Amino acid sequence: MAWVNVARVDEVPPGHMIKVTVDGDDLAVYHTDEGFFATSDVCTHATASLSSGTLNGCIVSCPKHGGKFDVRTGAAVALPCVFPVETYPVEVRGDEIWLDV
Ligand code: FES
Repeated sequence: MAWVNVARVDEVPPGHMIKVTVDGDDLAVYHTDEGFFATSDVCTHATASLSSGTLNGCIVSCPKHGGKFDVRTGAAVALPCVFPVETYPVEVRGDEIWLDV
């Protein structure tokens, strides 16, 4: 586990998400009305990129088959997704977003 600076705050406007890569792993960073969250970017159903989907509140919809995850917990909340995505602690330090990966 190590804290890594992955983006500036202004790179992730409210209601948006971005993909970042840390040590070869694709992660998604979300800016919701409850703050910033981070998960694996890889859908647990069939490996689509979640950050290419849509974010509605704290729910990200996968672009491939429409499965959904709660980005706060990683829980799968809509079929065909049943397995959670991994989540990562997020801290905002000044104008930087840091993840504990
Ligand atoms: Fe994400 Fe199928 S790959 S729902």
